[in-house]
Amino acid sequence: MTAVGIDAVEIWTGKLKLDLPETFAPQKGDDPAKYTKGLGLRASSFPDAYEDIVTMAANAAYKLMDRKDLEPDDIGRIDVATESAFDNSKPVSTYVAGCLEEVYEDDFHHANKGERKFACIAGTQSIDDAYNWIKAGRNRGRGALVIATDTALYARGDAGEATQGAGAVAMYVTENPSLVELSHAQGYGSADETDFLKPNQQFPSVDGKRSVQVYLARMREALEDYESVAGDVELDGFEYAPFHTPFPGMVRKAALLAYRHVIRDTEHEDALAGEIGRQPRPGEFDDEEAYQEAIREYMDALGDTEQYQDWYAQVIDPTLSISREVGNWYTGSVHIARMSALLEAAEEGTDMTGETLLVGSYGSGAQAEIHAETVVDGWKDEIQACDIYDQIEDRYDISFSEYEQVHDRHNHEKRVELEPFTQPEGEFVFDGWGPMNERKYTYVE
Ligand code: CAA
Repeated sequence: MTAVGIDAVEIWTGKLKLDLPETFAPQKGDDPAKYTKGLGLRASSFPDAYEDIVTMAANAAYKLMDRKDLEPDDIGRIDVATESAFDNSKPVSTYVAGCLEEVYEDDFHHANKGERKFACIAGTQSIDDAYNWIKAGRNRGRGALVIATDTALYARGDAGEATQGAGAVAMYVTENPSLVELSHAQGYGSADETDFLKPNQQFPSVDGKRSVQVYLARMREALEDYESVAGDVELDGFEYAPFHTPFPGMVRKAALLAYRHVIRDTEHEDALAGEIGRQPRPGEFDDEEAYQEAIREYMDALGDTEQYQDWYAQVIDPTLSISREVGNWYTGSVHIARMSALLEAAEEGTDMTGETLLVGSYGSGAQAEIHAETVVDGWKDEIQACDIYDQIEDRYDISFSEYEQVHDRHNHEKRVELEPFTQPEGEFVFDGWGPMNERKYTYVE
């Protein structure tokens, strides 16, 4: 059977940086440790005045096509996943194709274009669509361009303001990929939830604390569903677990739950029994409350064990390095977690060929999905082409008053003019509105 998976990835961060402990925390009267230790974030990326979801998506896509020597004829689909769209009819992928047609002689008229929406999980769903399209043999030898792009902004004063971010991840899904091969086993946890939504509004209505609980509940369901098709997940069965990362502290909570689940009834639980006892089982307690209390105590003790902390440092922490510096990219978030882990593996000289990633995607509203991917030969060259840490380093560090201006500039209701902080070069830029209220874009040499 032909392998299908992600052949190449390019990441594009918004050009501005908001330093959370240094710049944001003092203005909010917060202890900087809330950001660095609690949420696990150092900075958020923001779009400069000439950037938006289209420019970031088109720039990531162009970078990918250019590096891989692709022509428009090689692309059979362009799917954009976003929860920051500004048009309820015309998909962002048409704008992206329009941008790319400025720099290629040929066009994308024979590519199927669309836009996927299910909060942050839509990027993973678009990869699924591409996988299914190729597996069904409808791709005519072409690949799919899947782009996850978002400006994750919250209303000023919302608790979510601490977890903003902006960036795009372009992925090329093909037969015989060079980065990861996808598998057909998947698990879902999906329910009608009102934890985070944008009912025809730009900034989300969020029940922050509840959204954390919903994330954990849906991930747990997805893991159980995944195990029902793929068999029990084993602790040594995967090298990294990239999860959707609204902020690293969220993944810290999810990882502990996942670890407890995966080690249950295994030698790993036995190895810890002398130190912290065995996991509480419901039948051992008179009522639910006593059981839940025992679980909380066990979890606290588990998180403090060396066995757990070593596993976390090896399997989870490397997935969080980019996220820590850029914040939440919504649809792109799980895809930068994958790249973050593989960048670290390349840096450490680990041979990842044939190794497994356990990938956990999540979208509010709410749905989680878990699947496994196999890293394939060629991954290292792909990963070494990724310059995200240089981009992170090059961002312009905004002051708090500049942050306020940037937030206003990207507020759809305000239409505020703002002098850019950075100089665009060799990239697509937003160029104002056309007569039908459409956005216009230009390529700047
Ligand atoms: N030192 C160390 N830690 C500190 C601290 C300090 N001085 N001060 C606070 N903390 C810790 C807190 O204990 C807390 O950690 P725990 O949850 O582990 O206890 C953490 O820092 C955050 O502090 P608060 O809970 O007080 O922060 P908050 O009330 O401002 O809200 C939030 C946090 C609810 C996540 C908020 O930022 C928010 O609403 N974010 C948007 C929603 C979101 O991202 N939800 C995640 C799940 S939904 C999802 O994944 C989809 C998506 O992408 C949006």
